[in-house]
Amino acid sequence: MGKNINEIIEQAVNTGRLTKTDVVTLLSSSGEDAAALFAAADGVRKNQMGDDVHLRGLIEFSNYCERNCTYCGLRSSHKDLARYRMEEEEILAVAAAAVPLGYRTVVLQSGEDSYYDAQTVASIVHRLKKELGLVITLSLGERNRDEYKLWKDAGADRYLLKHETADADLYVALHPDMTWERRKQSLLTLRELGYQVGSGCMVGLPGQTLDALAEDLLFLQALDVEMAGIGPFVPNPHTPLAKAEGGTVEMTLKMIAVARLLLPKAHLPATTALGSIDKQGRQKALTSGANVVMPNITPNRYRRMYEIYPNKICLDDNPAHCRNCIGGIIASLGRHVADGPGHSPKDCFSGLAG
Ligand code: SAM
Ligand code: SF4
Ligand code: FES
Repeated sequence: MGKNINEIIEQAVNTGRLTKTDVVTLLSSSGEDAAALFAAADGVRKNQMGDDVHLRGLIEFSNYCERNCTYCGLRSSHKDLARYRMEEEEILAVAAAAVPLGYRTVVLQSGEDSYYDAQTVASIVHRLKKELGLVITLSLGERNRDEYKLWKDAGADRYLLKHETADADLYVALHPDMTWERRKQSLLTLRELGYQVGSGCMVGLPGQTLDALAEDLLFLQALDVEMAGIGPFVPNPHTPLAKAEGGTVEMTLKMIAVARLLLPKAHLPATTALGSIDKQGRQKALTSGANVVMPNITPNRYRRMYEIYPNKICLDDNPAHCRNCIGGIIASLGRHVADGPGHSPKDCFSGLAG
C-alpha cells in the first residue's frame, strides 16, 4: 500500500527528500490534506527562515525583448506595445529613491535587450554597489559566460533566471528561439560563477502535467537554488496563448509548499502574479512557505508598459505606496520586514557583507 499524505509530509519535513510519485501525491491533495501540507510548509519556513520577510525592490528598466516566448506580453512579436528603456542615471536615481524606503536589495529586470551591453550593465552594478551599498540581483535573461562573469566581478550578488518548465518538450514549444539545454547550461554557469542563483517555474502552462510540475520541483532541488520563484501562468490576450486557461491559486500554493519542504533554506517569493489572480494571493503564499516579496519600485509612468500578463497589480501605484502596502500585509500576518541584506543562509554565503 502507498504512503498516505501525512506520512509523505512527515518524511519531507524530516528528510527534505521525496520521490516524484510522492511529490505528485502532494500536488494532488485537496481539502484537509492540502491544509496539512500548507501548515507543514509554514512550520518549516518558521523553523528555517524565521518570521522575517525579505523585500527585494524590482526595477523593470526596459521592456524591449528580442525573444518571443509564447506566454509573455513583452515578446518581440507584440508590435502594439509601446517600448521604453531607462538609461543608467535614471536607474541609479530609481534605486537611490528606494534606499530611504528601507530596501537593501534591488532586482534589475528587463526583456532580453542587447541595447545594454555588458560594460553598461557592469557600470550600473558597480555604481549601485559603491554609491548606494545595495545588494544586486540581475534578471536580464540569457547572456554569455563572459558577461555573467563581468557582472559578478562588478559586484552582482544574485541572478534570477527562471527555468520556466523542466518539461523539455513543453519548454521548446513555449520558446520558439531557445533551447532547454542552453537554459540549463546558463543556470549551471551562474552557479559556477558563485552567484546566489534564483530560478523557478510557471504553474498551469498549457499541456503541463502534474508529473511535469513534480519535475520542476525536483529540478530546483537538484540545482539547490538559493531562490525559487513559483507563480501562476496568467494568459495574456496579446500572445498566442490568449485562450489558454492559466494556473490556479491552489496549485501554485501547493507548489510553493512542496518547494519549501524540498528546499528548506531557499528564499521563496510570494509572487506578484499570484497577487494578481487573487487579492489575498501573496498573503496565502506567505503562510504556505514563502518568505520574500518583490515590490515594484519602477516609476509609475512605465508600469503599464511592463504588462507581461493582464491585471497585474500596482500599475497605478508608486514605490512609496507599494512599500507601505506591503509593510501592512506583512504586519497583518504577525511577521516583520527583515532589515538585513537577506543573503542565502547557506554557509557558503554567510560571510557576505552589504
Ligand atoms: N526576460 C527575462 C527572463 O525571461 O528571464 C526577465 C523578464 S521576464 C518578463 C520575467 C518572468 O516573467 C519570466 O521568467 C516568466 O516566468 C514571467 N512571465 C512572463 N509571462 C508570463 C505570464 N503570462 N504569466 C506569468 N508569468 C509570466
Ligand atoms: Fe522576453 Fe523574458 Fe518575456 Fe521571454 S519571458 S519574452 S525573454 S521578457
Ligand atoms: Fe503595490 Fe500593494 S504592493 S499597491
